[in-house]
Amino acid sequence: MSVEDPGTGREHRPQVRQMLLIGAVVSALGIALALLIDWFPVAASKEAKPIDTLWDVLLIASVPVFVLVETIVVYSAIRFRMRPGEELKDGPPIHGNTKLEIIWTAIPAILLVGLCTYAYVVLTDIEEAPAAGNQLNVRVVGEQFTWTFYVEGADGKEVKSNQLYLPNNRPVYFTVQSKDVIHDFWVPAFRMKIDAVPGIDTHLRVTPNRIGNYPVVCAELCGLGHSTMRQTAHVLNPDDWEKKIAELAAGPKPSGGGGGGGGQAETDGKTLFTDAAEPPCASCHTLADAGATGTTGPNLDEVIPDLSEAEIKQSITDPDAKITEGFQPGIMPPNYGETLSEEQVDALVKYLKEVAGQ
Ligand code: CUA
Repeated sequence: MSVEDPGTGREHRPQVRQMLLIGAVVSALGIALALLIDWFPVAASKEAKPIDTLWDVLLIASVPVFVLVETIVVYSAIRFRMRPGEELKDGPPIHGNTKLEIIWTAIPAILLVGLCTYAYVVLTDIEEAPAAGNQLNVRVVGEQFTWTFYVEGADGKEVKSNQLYLPNNRPVYFTVQSKDVIHDFWVPAFRMKIDAVPGIDTHLRVTPNRIGNYPVVCAELCGLGHSTMRQTAHVLNPDDWEKKIAELAAGPKPSGGGGGGGGQAETDGKTLFTDAAEPPCASCHTLADAGATGTTGPNLDEVIPDLSEAEIKQSITDPDAKITEGFQPGIMPPNYGETLSEEQVDALVKYLKEVAGQ
């Protein structure tokens, strides 16, 4: 046994001890750093807490494994590197080490089985139906490129809206559907997400527990307008929520509204363009007057001047009737004719005709 023969000598014990010590210190620092980072947005559901705890446990388990593997890789690369004059030499003949192989198979296996069991228990707990029978049913329908929400009212009838309105502290049972391709319904603040798959219903349980507004996102690349599939979940106190749903159920006010834009019947063309339409035109189109620079759809400063008012109107309510060269059908949401009132569409047409191309 010589000092030159690596990996077998007892003289390496101090080095191993040193490595273990460094590894322990680096792991502790890594865990502290990982736990300090704010990984998620504010938690707005009952489900968020166990999920965030699960995440922390996964971090605590992963950091030491990462440090162990990296330490061995870096140590080996330095310790057993090829030195000048050794280019043509073979490495030492090494046989398998059964004991070592059993250890490095068994430990990860135990770790993985343990973490998987924990994650499984957390998930089944969350998915369990609530004991109390006051759950609210909400149907979520995804399409290129918007979400539509159908909240079950007290009379069992669905109330349709383009923003998601939920009462605080009441379990919600989502049924998620898609009209075209696979989308993914996700409210990061609730932590839960699930695919919207054409032809089948998928389900999700969430109990919102924090009043506020949270983004609803599509988490599955579903086409060119994927990034515009962003709406808002409003968690209201139960009284406000009931009022809101009654308002939505009563239908659009005389001046329109269709439930978009927070129930206000917006008829200012520019506001409709930048904010109130759902999703706003500005998220996909370029229009200098509105400060919009979207490129998902045609540049309106270029195309609008050549269009008649009737053609502009058709482009809003039936976007696939005529497609601008260089663009594909199916990118613009086909339902502006439903979500905007006649008056709102006219206001948009008038606004576009006035300002485009200036
Ligand atoms: Cu729908 Cu991405």
